[in-house]
Amino acid sequence: MRTLIKGGTVLSSSGAVEADVLVDGETIAAVTTPGMLTEADTVLDATGRYVLPGGIDAHTHMEMPFGGTFSADTFETGTRAAAFGGTTTIIDFAVQAKGTSLLSTLDKWHEKADGDCAIDYGFHMIVSDVNDATLKEMESCVDAGVSSFKMFMAYPGVFYSTDGEILRAMRKATETGSTIMMHAENGIAIDQLVAQALAEGKGDPVQHGYTRPPELEGEATSRAITLAKVTGAPLYIVHLSAAQALAAVAGARDEGQNVFAETCPQYLYLSIEDLAKPGFEGAKYVASPPLREKSHQGDLWRGLRTNDLSVVSTDHCPFCFKDQKELGRGDFSKIPNGMPGVEHRMDLLHQGVVAGEISLARWVETCSTTPARMFGLYPRKGVIAPGSDADIVLYDPKAEQTISAATHHMAVDYSAYEGLRITGAVTTVLSRGRVVVDRGEYHGSAGHGRFLSRDLCQYLN
Ligand code: URP
Ligand code: ZN
Ligand code: ZN
Ligand code: ZN
Repeated sequence: MRTLIKGGTVLSSSGAVEADVLVDGETIAAVTTPGMLTEADTVLDATGRYVLPGGIDAHTHMEMPFGGTFSADTFETGTRAAAFGGTTTIIDFAVQAKGTSLLSTLDKWHEKADGDCAIDYGFHMIVSDVNDATLKEMESCVDAGVSSFKMFMAYPGVFYSTDGEILRAMRKATETGSTIMMHAENGIAIDQLVAQALAEGKGDPVQHGYTRPPELEGEATSRAITLAKVTGAPLYIVHLSAAQALAAVAGARDEGQNVFAETCPQYLYLSIEDLAKPGFEGAKYVASPPLREKSHQGDLWRGLRTNDLSVVSTDHCPFCFKDQKELGRGDFSKIPNGMPGVEHRMDLLHQGVVAGEISLARWVETCSTTPARMFGLYPRKGVIAPGSDADIVLYDPKAEQTISAATHHMAVDYSAYEGLRITGAVTTVLSRGRVVVDRGEYHGSAGHGRFLSRDLCQYLN
């Protein structure tokens, strides 16, 4: 089956060209001068539209266990929503519970996702129990295509690792060439601030922000960078939200250290003012790190331009407002941490293009090409080139839409961007050559998406 996508503007991390794209089966067969090819079984007219490599969301949490509940999207609903938003690959997190092994954890996550996904997917491994056996198993994870390990400087007693444990895991990362992903917030200090606030009777959602100040993200980021320097491990800072943390990353990169960082749309568009909404409304915006003062947003956009922030991921981790966020009414520390977003990353970052914050090339690079390279998927993913998987998005840059929970496809009862007007919209999405979304209609199926065994990071000095 050959599909010709003709008349569009093909985007890549180096810019835009008028070109036709021929898809043969699951892969891209040719990218040609417009009009050169005419023979195909199906023709998709892309006139007036961008033709870009499918988005890669390198940070999602489908059906993630958290404090006795699970994030609301399953692999089935979450990957379908991702497809609607022009994302054709997710990398989700398998979560090691203390006292369990990495490989049994990986099996468990394979079981959750296998047969359920609309688009291709990979896994990172969350390491929460560092011991001799775990460290040894990191080698097997890399062999099994899971080449990145997330650790936490936050959440003492749950996922938290000490500096010594982090150092040990980093040594193993250096040895295997794998990447340590860090949730960089000083959880020990934060727990004190949380206890103090609760003791003073301050239980509102906004306290989540006040008790996790940006300085404690900056400090933890610097400490993680230092530990990575001592061990030589590649380091990737997840969900960077604060100017202080960005400065630490920029400094390390200037010195040539293998330090990378992602930010998320919520930190570019939302702020602590949302957390401070009246009543319990702010619970919708509780995620860690917390939404910051608006003054951080300009720094984050600059970081995206200078490549000190090289990836935009969503940290999609939806909990319903009604029965899940409710768990923390009166005690903000019990509000499940996380926000929905997998469906709207491409659209929200396109607003950055419209506003002149980033170029078209940077949009594609931060949302697709760099995540592919960062996590060992390039050139299979992240580029429209002969031989690459035909994961392709047709995007109408002039369409207008309004984000709303009434129309989104994520299995969560609210939108963090309710009522936001967007210029641009996904019209058609191909996953390995198959049209899975077309003009708002779903043509995909659970189980079309396959597990992606990943190589190592492709950016190391
Ligand atoms: O609050 C958040 N970000 N929840 C998801 C888990 C994590 O720390 O990434
Ligand atoms: Zn399942
Ligand atoms: Zn995290
Ligand atoms: Zn996360």
